[in-house]
Order: sequence, then C-alpha cells, then structure tokens
Amino acid sequence: MADTLTITDNRTGKTYEIDIKDGTIRADALRKIKTSDDDFGLMTYDPAFMNTASCRSAITLIDGDKGILRYRGYAIEDLAEQSSYIEVAYLLLHGELPNEAQLRKWSHEITHHTFVHEFLRKSMEGFRFDAHPMGKLVSMLGALSTFYPEAKKVRDDKTRRQEIVRIIAKMPTLSAWAFRHAVGRPYVYPDNELSYCGNFLNMIFRMAEPRFEPHPVLERALDILFILHADHEQNCSANAARAVGSAETDPYCSLAAASAALYGPLHGGANEAVLHMLKQIGSVGAVPEFITGVKNGSGRLMGFGHRVYKNYDPRAKVIKKLAHEVFEVTGKNPLLEIALELEKIALNDDYFVKRKLYPNVDFYSGMIYQAMGFPVDMFPVLFAIPRASGWLAQWQEMLQDPEQKIARPRQIYTGADLRPYVPMSERATKPAT
Ligand code: ACO
Repeated sequence: MADTLTITDNRTGKTYEIDIKDGTIRADALRKIKTSDDDFGLMTYDPAFMNTASCRSAITLIDGDKGILRYRGYAIEDLAEQSSYIEVAYLLLHGELPNEAQLRKWSHEITHHTFVHEFLRKSMEGFRFDAHPMGKLVSMLGALSTFYPEAKKVRDDKTRRQEIVRIIAKMPTLSAWAFRHAVGRPYVYPDNELSYCGNFLNMIFRMAEPRFEPHPVLERALDILFILHADHEQNCSANAARAVGSAETDPYCSLAAASAALYGPLHGGANEAVLHMLKQIGSVGAVPEFITGVKNGSGRLMGFGHRVYKNYDPRAKVIKKLAHEVFEVTGKNPLLEIALELEKIALNDDYFVKRKLYPNVDFYSGMIYQAMGFPVDMFPVLFAIPRASGWLAQWQEMLQDPEQKIARPRQIYTGADLRPYVPMSERATKPAT
C-alpha cells in the first residue's frame, strides 16, 4: 500500500499522485494541478485553519478525543502535581526537564531580570485610571522592545536566550503594575527572595507590611494554574506569535501581538463569562431552568465545550481539585455550589452528552482567581503571564525550523475586475457616511 493520494482532475482528465506524510499532504503539492501552463495551480481554501497544519512542532500534544494534554511528552497532570512553573517554562523552551544545577541557574537568571526600567514605570503612569490591564500589558510589551534594541537579532542564539529570560522575568512585574495602576496603589518592586509566583503575589497585594509573606497554598495554587496555562499548541495567540515573529520582528513585539490575540473574548476571556453566567443564575435552585434555557437555544453554558477537546479537558480536572484547596484558605466562593450543580446536571443530560460537551479550563479558574482577590479584568493577564513561555517556545521553534518562511497566506480574490478610473466629477453622488 503506497503512502500517496491519487487525484484525478475532472477538468482535464489528468491524474496526479501526491505523497502523504504524517497524515497530511503538502498544500504546495497541489500547485502542479493546472488547467493550462499559465494557470497558477490548485490551492486549498481553509479559513480559520480548520484543517491545515501550519507547522511541525515538538512542544505540546493535545488529543482532544481522549482528553490528553502533554508538554514535551509529559502528562499535564504529572507536571501540575510535581513541577513548578519555572521548571515547566524551561521544559517548554529547552525540550527537557532541567537537572538541579540547570534549574538553579535558570531560576537565578529569571529572578535577576524581574526589574524594569524606571522610564517604563513612567509610561505606565500615563494610562487613564480605568485602562484595561490587558491593554496596558500589550503596550508595555511593545514598549520593552525600545529598551532592548539588540533583541532584533533573533537569529543569534545568545541574544534570543537573553530576551527569553527577560520576558519571562518581567511579565509578572508589568502585569502587577498594570493592576496597581488600576486600583491607584503604589507600584511594588520585585522581591528577589520570593518564588516566581510568591513575588507576583507580593507585587499585587503588598500594602504596608515590611515583607510580604505569600500564603503557601495560594502561592502553589497559582503555580499550578500557571503550569496549566503555559502552552496549548497552535491556538490563536501562539499562531499570532509565530506569524508576527516570522517577519523577524523582535520577541517583545511578537509577544505584544500574541497578548493582543489573547485579549479577545473568544480566546482568553471565557472565564470571565463563566462568572457572569453563574451570577446571573444566582442560586442552585435556578440551575435546571437555566439548563433548559440553554437546550432551547437561549445562550450557551459558558466554560463547557471546546473546539479540540471532546472529552473532559484534563486541565479542568486539576483545577476543580485545586478550587477546593484554595477555598479552604479563602473561604468558599459562593458561586461554587451553582457550578457543581451545573456540571452534575450537564454531564448527565443527553443534550450535552451527545455533543460531547465537557467542562473546559475556564469553568473553575475564574472562581479561583476571584477568591484569591483578583478582579475580573485581570483574568486574561493571569493567562498571559505563564503563556509567555509557550509563546516564546513556539516563536523560537518557528525561527529554528528551516521549512518556515514569513507567514503569508494566499487569498481568493472576489473583488472587481480591472475598470477605468472614475474622475471625481463623474462619481455618483451619495450621502457622506
Ligand atoms: N453550551 C451549549 N451548547 C453548546 C456549547 C455550550 N457551551 N458549546 C457547543 N454547544 C453546541 C452547539 O450549539 C452545537 O450544537 P448543534 O450541533 O445542535 O448546533 C454543538 O454543541 C457544537 O458546537 P460548535 O459551536 O460547533 O462547537 P465549536 O467547536 O465551534 O465551539 C466553543 C467551541 C466555542 C468553545 C463552544 O463550545 C463554546 O462556545 N463554549 C462556551 C464558551 C467557552 O467556554 N469557551 C472557552 C473555550 S476554552 C479556551 O478557549 C481557553
């Protein structure tokens, strides 16, 4: 049996044989299918990349039918239980878990790049009091590129590594300051004695105490949430990081683009929608009526369903357990009972079972963040901090892949044919719009 595809073009009667590798055919192999010598050749049409692999990647594997997520071959459940986010960031970027000496060096490097230039602090102060923290983060990432002009040497291994360290180190600082600015509190500088997440909590919550002591349960919970959010293969924002980076744009601007993609409600904003939904339902007793409404088409059960997962999102399982641990410390989020009842009813209801709709990562994460004291508009920022390591791993892999070039899709032109230019005096008068 040959690993090929035979295609007969019924326009010409010609037959072509195309290689199949890794369950795919190369789109450019179709170019030889032509109706005449000056025909451009056959293209594929795939809006939103629904059935197109844009790269080869060795970073993250998702098997949506089985509910599997792995980073570099390691199960997400094992990493969440036994690793730290900093270790996972190393794994994503280097392909292997660090040994003790490598981890010590990596942590030291990240810890000692957490400070940002004072001019950047002044830029942050220029935002209006009600500016969304995600808009501020996107701007600050772009602004960082102006402080490190050498970052544009993206083909230089040493420079690339330096900028990767800087970005992972500075994400929590910029994010925390975006929050402090919004609530009118003084910015807190990094405390390099604390862990990555401990220091982030310090920069978010510290008030007058001489030394901020993060609660160990909350510090670890945040670390686990960061592990779960670190990468998710070719999602919208990773694709943005790769596409913008393919122009050899520096990593700060490439990640500003990725953060902008994450900002969209269809990507990083669903956990906020879950909270609004739970509030709107209001009580456990109102859950059956809400479910009936969803089944009758009046809205969706937010935090349920996924384009890729057609089984329980493995991250949701970890987060559900984590929620109980966090609520032991913070007190129970009153919305939890409603969420549990929703999940129980939905998982036993034919409508959801038939459509393979299971809780996704967003179903419980918002409740945890809220219980920890984060306002809703910080949720996408909390997503962006750990996802930076995934974006950087994807960006680096793209640069090192000899098959990749500047990302430049084709189009099917649907506009007018060539027509004579119309002078202003002859144009039809239409009211100004
Ligand atoms: N509640 C009720 N019905 C749903 C839901 C839901 N949450 N999700 C899908 N369905 C139904 C659809 O109505 C459709 O039913 P039909 O076949 O009778 O028309 C069927 O299930 C398939 O749905 P699609 O919209 O085709 O699935 P798609 O893969 O395009 O959508 C998505 C995936 C956008 C995540 C969807 O499930 C959804 O809107 N969920 C709620 C929002 C959410 O939680 N988003 C977070 C995703 S995780 C992340 O991005 C980090």
